Amino acid sequence: MTPRAYTFPPGFLFGAATSSYQIEGAWNEDGKGESIWDRFAHTPGTIEDGSTGDIACDHVHRYREDVALMSDLGLDAYRFSISWPRVLRSGTGVVNDAGLAFYDRLVDALLEKGIRPFATLYHWDLPQALQDRGGWPARGTVDAFCEFADVVSRRLGDRVKDWITLNEPFVSAVIGHWEGRHAPGHSDEREALAATHHLLLAHGRSVPILRANVPGGRIGITNVHQPTHPASPSEHDRLAAAEFEGLLNRTFLDPLVGRGYPDVVPYDCGLLESFVRSGDLQAIAAPLDFLGVNYYTRRIARSTAIDEAENASRTVHERPGPTAMGWEVYPEGLFETLDWIHANYHFPEYYITENGAAYPDEVGADGRIQDDERIAYYDLHLEHVARVVEAGIPLRGYFAWSLMDNFEWSYGYAKRFGLVYVDFQTGTRIPKASYDWYKLKSAEWRGA
Ligand code: FCB
Repeated sequence: MTPRAYTFPPGFLFGAATSSYQIEGAWNEDGKGESIWDRFAHTPGTIEDGSTGDIACDHVHRYREDVALMSDLGLDAYRFSISWPRVLRSGTGVVNDAGLAFYDRLVDALLEKGIRPFATLYHWDLPQALQDRGGWPARGTVDAFCEFADVVSRRLGDRVKDWITLNEPFVSAVIGHWEGRHAPGHSDEREALAATHHLLLAHGRSVPILRANVPGGRIGITNVHQPTHPASPSEHDRLAAAEFEGLLNRTFLDPLVGRGYPDVVPYDCGLLESFVRSGDLQAIAAPLDFLGVNYYTRRIARSTAIDEAENASRTVHERPGPTAMGWEVYPEGLFETLDWIHANYHFPEYYITENGAAYPDEVGADGRIQDDERIAYYDLHLEHVARVVEAGIPLRGYFAWSLMDNFEWSYGYAKRFGLVYVDFQTGTRIPKASYDWYKLKSAEWRGA
């Protein structure tokens, strides 16, 4: 690997991220209610390897060991999410104190080690009881989310100052309700569009609640973004690119800055707008302190509206050597994405709240995991992170996805994204070579 030289300004945060359903386990302990992911994973045929998140990394029981690893890794910050049904079994009403107490212990353990907690309120594990009442397509879920945000921020707001309302509402709405590959596993455009609006409204309506409960709080939302390139210069591919870009990037950004929903999109705009009531768009545009961006890859858009044979030949090709997810490694897209967002939306600050790659890691004869491809992925992407900062874009930190191998949604345990290897039979954690690399490099960058 060619050594690269790039630096970061003082105070830039190097972190790692996880989410509740993917690591916690303890799915039905201490009064926790069922989530839509518990229900979905327990439904045969939904998860590629037939697994569930029942135990996952058993983080609820092993969080001390995990915080010790974070501390050894030298993390400045840790992004985790809060399981809504662990705190409110049925989504609203009686608070499950034992569940909330887990997050108290986790936050205290982080602070003891000098690690800044970034809490995400919603990383896809909706209480099943709320799904039974209509889930995100039902407007009542917005009020329920506000109640959840209030309960959690009252309890943790004295210690947690960085809050992310939602993780990737695009994925909740579109993959969960339109493509059906994620919980709740529905395939319905109407549901997906209602969910889109209600997720964004829940975000916006929770912002003032978080501000009131968290003195000195810093509040943002995390989106997934991809630069989208037409596969050829044909008008069909250009339209396909504009539509995908409209859905993935603009539908989830325009309303945050008060522009309402965009019009070049692959869905029925009238239908989406039919869910908007007076005052909603103002609520969604509540000023934020930062935007979180999850960046993994780009999208090459090819039209499906005409026959492949009639379309122009492809001029844009994926580079060889995708990750185990089949995602192209396209590091310059990280710069492209941040540059485009900042030029068009001007959020006050940014974080890369996820970036990383799955590879088929194996434990070597010496007990080590020599994940050179992951190191190369991080190295290439961090170089572009440094370029973003150099360009004067107010990017304040970077979170690797993920601290440890975990339950990768509909792929189960087959896709390993961790800096730490997890043996899912025994729960044993083994830091990978990428962990040593990130530890060394971030220490160097901090000291530079
Ligand atoms: C993101 C999710 C995260 C993880 C990574 C690989 O879309 O936010 O939970 O699954 O992809």
